[in-house]
Amino acid sequence: MAAPFRWGIISTGWIAGCFIKDVLIDPKTRGVHDVTHKVTAVGSRTVAKAQEFINKHAAGDDSIKPYGTYQEVFDDPNVDGVYIGTPHTYHYESALAAIKSGKHVLCEKPVTSNAAELRSLLAAAKEHSVFFMEAMWTRFQPLALEVKRIAEEGSLGKPVVLHADLSGDFDVQNIPTTHRILDPQLGGGALLDLGPYPLVWAIIALYENPANNKAFPTTITGNMLKTPLTGVDSSTVFTLSFTPTETSSLAAQAILSCSITLNAPEPGVTIRFERGTITINPPIYSPRSFKVTYLNKGAAAGDKTVAEGTLTRTFEYVGKGWHFQADEVARCVRDGKRESEAWGHDKSLLEMDIFDEVRKQGGYVFPPGVEKVV
Ligand SMILES: NC(=O)c1ccc[n+]([C@@H]2O[C@H](COP(=O)([O-])OP(=O)(O)OC[C@H]3O[C@@H](n4cnc5c(N)ncnc54)[C@H](OP(=O)(O)O)[C@@H]3O)[C@@H](O)[C@H]2O)c1
Repeated sequence: MAAPFRWGIISTGWIAGCFIKDVLIDPKTRGVHDVTHKVTAVGSRTVAKAQEFINKHAAGDDSIKPYGTYQEVFDDPNVDGVYIGTPHTYHYESALAAIKSGKHVLCEKPVTSNAAELRSLLAAAKEHSVFFMEAMWTRFQPLALEVKRIAEEGSLGKPVVLHADLSGDFDVQNIPTTHRILDPQLGGGALLDLGPYPLVWAIIALYENPANNKAFPTTITGNMLKTPLTGVDSSTVFTLSFTPTETSSLAAQAILSCSITLNAPEPGVTIRFERGTITINPPIYSPRSFKVTYLNKGAAAGDKTVAEGTLTRTFEYVGKGWHFQADEVARCVRDGKRESEAWGHDKSLLEMDIFDEVRKQGGYVFPPGVEKVV
């Protein structure tokens, strides 16, 4: 068993609280016996907040150092890697500073404000030889692994159309316009905050399908409805088409949407294959159940080798599901890897290239200075 992976937590907001709670759960409770975790430092913009966060989530653990700057966490020799939970438009500068200090990085979604920032971070991670991954937690959950296995095992045939939506009602009329979901300075709007989740399912079911052979979508379209409150997108619809090329044989489309003024629909994801359908119940960022409907389309009369019927699967584990990505980081670093195979740099780049294109078509321009690299 390798030594525990020593985490530094950057920021003390909502998601940082979710992450530390899960990462402190004994991995054995989820059947993980090869890696363990320890939190050794918390960085906040004030040391009092860092201490308060430690008191709340790890009361009595004096081994966790509170710091009043993020840089002190990056400089701490007792930290192997950092988890970054700042608002979207601060990911770039925090991740870059961590990388330059030689720390491995797990950075919240969306990994950066745009694709140029991500390319710059990946170059820095390569130069400093550190592991870097976007915190796309859904991809590592047992349900996602099982959906992927069933989608690729052959009975359903190839995927043809995928519909996915993540919406959440943020009560935008009654929150301050400085809230990160509304403020364009913080990359507000539906696409950057919620869009990664419909997209992750398109990446799992279409981009990762062996028939696609890692081809990027041939066409991307995007359309945005803006809120008059601050001009950020309140609802966005985007589509991806994968058409066969010399190296890929997948012909499939994804119809994806997100909104900050509606609740999530049910099912949240529908993947239609040549010979059946997979539906996934909300919340699509950490679903606990899905259903497969098999059609024995094309089977000769009486041929029982082609499946027909339905299968429902449910998943239980201790915690909320943020810990599976932490296990991946610990394993990759233990094994000397600089990126994850499951959520590699190519997938974050695909995501940011798609978001840039959707923002371009939707007319969403960040205020000057928000993008640190263009
Ligand atoms: N994976 C998921 O399920 C999930 C869910 C929600 C959010 N997220 C992502 O996590 C990130 C943070 O979201 P959140 O909901 O946790 O936000 P939040 O509650 O507002 O927390 C953000 C934290 O970032 C720090 N920060 C640094 N500069 C800041 C600034 N200029 N304005 C505000 N805060 C600043 C603050 O911590 P200190 O004061 O301690 O420095 C703050 O508490 C976003 O990128 C979001 O997309 C992911």
